[in-house]
Amino acid sequence: MTAIRSVVLGCGSYLPQQVLTNADLAARIDTSDEWIVQRTGIRERHIAAPGEFTSHLAINAAKAALADAGVEAQSIDLIVLATSTPDNTFPATAVAVQHGLGIHHGAAFDLQAVCSGFIFALATADNFLRSGAFKRALVIGAETFSRILDWSDRGTCVLFGDGAGAIVLEAQEQPGLSSDRGVLTTHLRSDGSHKTKLFVDGGPSTTQTVGHLRMEGREVFKHAVGMITDVVEDALARGGITARDLDWFVPHQANKRIIDASARKLGIPEEKVVVTVHLHGNTSAASVPLALGAAVADGRIRQGDLVLLEAMGGGFTWGAVLLRW
Ligand code: ACO
Repeated sequence: MTAIRSVVLGCGSYLPQQVLTNADLAARIDTSDEWIVQRTGIRERHIAAPGEFTSHLAINAAKAALADAGVEAQSIDLIVLATSTPDNTFPATAVAVQHGLGIHHGAAFDLQAVCSGFIFALATADNFLRSGAFKRALVIGAETFSRILDWSDRGTCVLFGDGAGAIVLEAQEQPGLSSDRGVLTTHLRSDGSHKTKLFVDGGPSTTQTVGHLRMEGREVFKHAVGMITDVVEDALARGGITARDLDWFVPHQANKRIIDASARKLGIPEEKVVVTVHLHGNTSAASVPLALGAAVADGRIRQGDLVLLEAMGGGFTWGAVLLRW
């Protein structure tokens, strides 16, 4: 029996021009390249220029994804944009992106699941495409975390950066087999009992300020590997495969130690793990599509490859997507 699948037509990414290295940070606060690299694997991050907003980053990534897919912006009828750093409290940054791309039909909305945002957005778009409600979607993760960091807090400001990544998804009829192209299974989880372990201490309803990111790093680390491996194992089981069958593991790029520990626990060899965290730090919802974009651009991920995406972040939220490129 045939099945409608959300097939990836193309992907693209964008990083702001300004690079902030660990050495740059060490000149401003009490930290060192050695400490940051050893604990996180991060070497540099990109910072949006004054007047450069999340929507601008998202539009650049979306244009790159459309070009890679070889389709016109006008063919897009759904935009789901994952961000925790919107241009404004409202309207959704997705409508600024829609307008910037010259699209005036279909639907565009934001989705907020912090670092898991892209996984949640991809699962959401997949459901809309498979239901027949929309035909072709842009799924975007875009962030300007530099705007919500407390630059005097060395425990957090060294970890994050700005960036955006996007994919174009299209509803296509496939044979209905495990060899189908497209999204094969999605798994989303949340547990708000952890909501004070990684949060922003402001907001329109509470303080009427934007606020700054606060994190209990050790607590996040403690839960991350277990939650990630748990949801990935669910995805593998639902897909009827084992970790050995995967061609590529594209994890959330938060911290090299979390990536390594998760891959080790899952039995995924290092050469199948896509790592870009050293180049852009933790870009929250943008991190998975940035890593995807890098591995597609350099020819590692090819059509037909079995790819596992995962992320975990504030909330806590976490999730995994199994797809065939
Ligand atoms: N440079 C130098 N020293 C630092 C820095 C820094 N940037 N930050 C903290 N320290 C110091 C602390 O003050 C502390 O000093 P003390 O022993 O004199 O008190 C010491 O380093 C150890 O601090 P810890 O916070 O215990 O350091 P830890 O080894 O846990 O590493 C880190 C901190 C890297 C944040 C780690 O906890 C971590 O990776 N957590 C996961 C957080 C994460 O990745 N969050 C991203 C969002 S969630 C997600 O996306 C999965």
